[in-house]
Formats: sequence, C-alpha cells, structure tokens
Amino acid sequence: MARKWSYWTKNKLQILGDYVPAFNKASARSSERLYLDLMAGQPENEERYTGKVIDGSPRRVLAADPGFTQHVFFELPANAARLKAVLDIEFPGKEFEVIPGDSNLEIDAALKALEPIKWAPAFAFIDQQAAEVWWETLVKIARFKGVRARTKPELWLLMSPTMTVKGVSRRGTNSAAFRERVTRLYGTRNWLNIQEARETSVITADQYREEMTNFMRFRLAEALGYKYTNRIPMRMENGTTIYDMVFASDHYVGDKIMSHLYAKAAEREPAMQREARRLAKMDREHKAGTEGLFEIPASAEPEVSGAILWRPEPYWNPAEREWWTERD
Ligand SMILES: C[S@@+](CC[C@H](N)C(=O)[O-])C[C@H]1O[C@@H](n2cnc3c(N)ncnc32)[C@H](O)[C@@H]1O
Repeated sequence: MARKWSYWTKNKLQILGDYVPAFNKASARSSERLYLDLMAGQPENEERYTGKVIDGSPRRVLAADPGFTQHVFFELPANAARLKAVLDIEFPGKEFEVIPGDSNLEIDAALKALEPIKWAPAFAFIDQQAAEVWWETLVKIARFKGVRARTKPELWLLMSPTMTVKGVSRRGTNSAAFRERVTRLYGTRNWLNIQEARETSVITADQYREEMTNFMRFRLAEALGYKYTNRIPMRMENGTTIYDMVFASDHYVGDKIMSHLYAKAAEREPAMQREARRLAKMDREHKAGTEGLFEIPASAEPEVSGAILWRPEPYWNPAEREWWTERD
C-alpha cells in the first residue's frame, strides 16, 4: 500500500471515473478508443484518516462501462510490475499494456506501436506530482493523429504550482535543476516571468498559482491549438489550491461533459473539506490522548444547492502582464 491520499485525490478520480464512460458513450461509433495514462501509479491507495482503499486510475478506467478498447499505462519500473500483475488478474479480458519506464522516453515507441489505430478517439491522463511530464511529450501526443485529424487526443493534466514552488525554492543546485524541469514542462523559459514576479512580490501567492496554471492552458490552446481548455482548482482544507486539473479538447461535447463534471466536483468539495477537518481533529485528539467522550459528528451533506461553485473561464494572454518579457 502506497502513500495516504487526501479527499482531493478522491474527487479528482471521481471526475475521471465519470468522464470515461461518458467519453466512450459519446464515441461509441468508433470501433477503437484509446486511453493513455502517462503516470499510472499503483492499483490501490489508502485514504488518509479512514484507511479505506482508493482505486487508482488504471482500475477505474479498466472497470468503466462503456470503456476504452485499448489502454497504455506507463509507470516507473519500481511500481510497474506489481501494477501489471494486479491488472492481469483483475482484467483478463481487457486490452492493455503496462510500460515500465519514464513515459517521456517510452512515448515514441508506444505511439509507433499504436499507429494502426491513430484515427481512434483518444484521451491521455497525465497525473504528475509537480513537473514530471515534458512539453515535448504533450506535443507528441497532440500530433499523434496527424495534422489533418479533426480532433487531437484529449489531455487531462495535473498542474500544481503549489508543488512547483516547493521545488523551485529548494536550496542551491537542487533549485536550478528543478527550474530546468519546469522549463521542460512548459517547453519555454517564459514561466520564469511568473516566478520572478512572485519572487519580487509583484504578484501574490494566489496570483502565482493562477498565472502558472493559466500559462499551461495558454500553451495548450495557442501552441498546440486545442479549441477548448478548462481548469478546476482542487483545494485543501484551508482553501489553498493544491493543484488544478487542466483539460484540453477539440470537441465541444468533451468540453461540455467535462464542464458538467467540474461543476459536480466543485459541489462535492465543501463537504469533503469539512469531513477532512473533522477527521484531522479527531486524529489530533487521538494522538494527544485528549479524545472527547463522543465522536465529533459528521456534518450534514453539502449546503450548496443552487450555488454555482465552478464555471468555465477563458484563459488570458500572460504576455499582456506588464511584468512579462518574451524569452526563448
Ligand atoms: C500521482 S501518482 C499517479 C496516480 C495514478 N494516476 C492514480 O490515479 O492512481 C504519479 C505516479 O507517476 C509515476 N511517475 C513519475 N514520473 C514518471 C514518469 N516520468 N514516467 C512514468 N511514471 C512516472 C510515479 O511513480 C507515481 O506512481
């Protein structure tokens, strides 16, 4: 069993679990439908405080009905063998491959092997922690179907400026190495405009997170040509955004479905936050030996009826900020 996962991971994976059958229903006329998972993780993970099992993306996607017809899961060698062993047992009838290795290095061979079905509707999940995927890899996926294809593979990418800032703030050469990784993630040094604006207090921490996520949307739309992009912030108990899920699609139906699921996820979030605060408090009291006589009661279901907690917002051109200077 791996790291303990928080409610925002559950919320994210529920979006995936709901999107996959909707995508496959919408493209049911196509005899092949392709799923790429660039950072597939482990089959199951443990929820913080409750110890409950949370199924990871491979299990959820393979269990979807209707589901994809072909699946490629990339995962680092340390986890890949166990992932394959579990999936082999649990999903004997499904077409999938687990590729052990760095997905940035393995992507060429994988896409080459998929050439015969490159016309298929495709969806790629890139569930990184901070800055593991390379821009070049996103470009390869976006161009996989060829320049004449009406739609590119959809991308669903985790962006975490909160984690990025941690890496960037490391001491000495570690920070420089991490900055190189972030440059590789965006495929340009222009993100350093945002970094420097934050370091000189020209923008706030919240603005930093907004700008860093927006910049990826801007790149997906303007450099790769995705017609629709969206983002949903996933927030910690204190309201700080831990990461954003960024979606890019060329199809209005995909965008419509994902927008609906983003709104649903935003509706779920307040109750999840309250429950996490309750469990954290009980955990602290348990550890301090100061438990009350009674369990802290779970709060009622979300009081969000009618409230609009998420709505699509356009991206902006970051170069219009006065602190921006174009770099390579
Ligand atoms: C956040 S976890 C993914 C969780 C998974 N998507 C799920 O829902 O269960 C990130 C995973 O990416 C893997 N990873 C990190 N860098 C990678 C890379 N370059 N290529 C393939 N896998 C990578 C890590 O080993 C880790 O298991």
